[in-house]
Amino acid sequence: VYPPPIETSKTSKRGVHRLAIIGAGAVGSAFAFSQVTAAGARELILADIDVRRAEGQVMDLSHCVPLSRPMQIRAGGLDVVENCDMIVITAGAAQLPGESRLDLVKRNADILASMVPVLAKANPTSILCIITNPVDVMTRLAVKLSGFPKERVFGTGTVLDSSRFRLLLSLYLGVDARNVHGYVIGEHGDSEVLVWSHSSVGPYRLLPYAELVGKPLTAGMREHFTREVRTAAYQIIERKGATNFAIGVSTQRIYEAIHQNQSSMMTVCRALDGVYGFDDLCLSIPCLLTRDGVARPTPLELDPDEHRAFMASAETIDNVYRQLGVV
Ligand SMILES: NC(=O)c1ccc[n+]([C@@H]2O[C@H](COP(=O)([O-])OP(=O)(O)OC[C@H]3O[C@@H](n4cnc5c(N)ncnc54)[C@H](O)[C@@H]3O)[C@@H](O)[C@H]2O)c1
Repeated sequence: VYPPPIETSKTSKRGVHRLAIIGAGAVGSAFAFSQVTAAGARELILADIDVRRAEGQVMDLSHCVPLSRPMQIRAGGLDVVENCDMIVITAGAAQLPGESRLDLVKRNADILASMVPVLAKANPTSILCIITNPVDVMTRLAVKLSGFPKERVFGTGTVLDSSRFRLLLSLYLGVDARNVHGYVIGEHGDSEVLVWSHSSVGPYRLLPYAELVGKPLTAGMREHFTREVRTAAYQIIERKGATNFAIGVSTQRIYEAIHQNQSSMMTVCRALDGVYGFDDLCLSIPCLLTRDGVARPTPLELDPDEHRAFMASAETIDNVYRQLGVV
C-alpha cells in the first residue's frame, strides 16, 4: 500500500471531541478563542475557580459560534470537567513584584496538587497538557499527581520559543518562516538552548546558508538572537502585562496535531524517559505528537556546547523540582 499508513503505538481511534481548559485568564481565553475561530473540539469547557470569570468568557466566546462553526461551550468549576479527551491547564498564579521564582513554583505546585488528582479521576483516559509556569516543573508534577502514562502528560514547553526563534531567523534572512526550521530545547525559560547545529532553511543547513546569502550568523548575532528569544516574554509582560496570543496559537497547533493524529514533530516538554540519562525529568526536545499523546523522544546529537547547555538547563529544572520535596 502506498503511502503506508502512519503507525501509532495504539490503534485508538479517538480524537479530541471534548476539551477542557482550566483557567479562564489571559492564556486560557486566548487558546479558547483559537478553538472557536479554527478547527476545534465539538465541546469546549472553560473551568476556573472564579466561575463568574469563566462564564463571562464563555458568553463572549459563544457569540462567535453563529459566525464560525457549530460547537458547545460551557463554563463552570472543576466539577464540570468530566470524561474529557484532553485537558489543558493554564490555572496559576502570576509572579508578583519582589517574589522569587521558587515562591511562584510553590504556589502553582499547590494549585496543581489541588486539581490534578481530581481531574485524573474524573477523566481517566484524558491527555493532559500543562501551560502553567514553570511549565517543566509543573509537567513533572502532573505526571506524578495524575498517575497517567508519560505519553499522556506533557507541557507546551518550548513550542512557543521555537516559534520565536523561527520568526527572528525568518526576518533576518528574508525567508518565509514556514521554511525556517529552528528548535529551542531545554527549559522554557532563562536556560533554554537554541539548537543552531540542527536548524535549517528549506534544504540548507542554517549557518552555511546564512554565509552563502551574505548574512552570516556571527557569534555576536547568535548571542543577540538567543537573548531576544529568552527575554521575549519579559519584554511583552513589561508592555502588556501577560503573554497570551502566541501561547494560545501554539496550544491550538498542539491540539490539531493530536486531534488529527498528524505525527507532527514539536518541542513539547515531556518526561525524558532515559534520553540523555534522565528519566522522570520533564524538559523540551523534539517529540512526535499523535492521537495517543507525545511519543518517547529520540536523542538528538547536539554539538558539545549545546549539549553542555542542555545538561545545565536540566540540572536547573531538576533542582527546582527537588526543592518542592515531592517524592
Ligand atoms: N508555558 C507557556 O509558554 C506560558 C505562556 C504564558 C503564560 N504561561 C503561564 O500560564 C499561567 C496563566 O497565565 P495567565 O496570564 O492566563 O494568568 P491569569 O491570571 O490571567 O489567569 C489565571 C487563571 O487561573 C485561575 N485559577 C487560579 N487558581 C485556580 C484554581 N485553583 N482552579 C481553577 N482556576 C484557577 C484564575 O482565577 C485565573 O482566571 C501562568 O502560570 C503563566 O505564567 C505559560
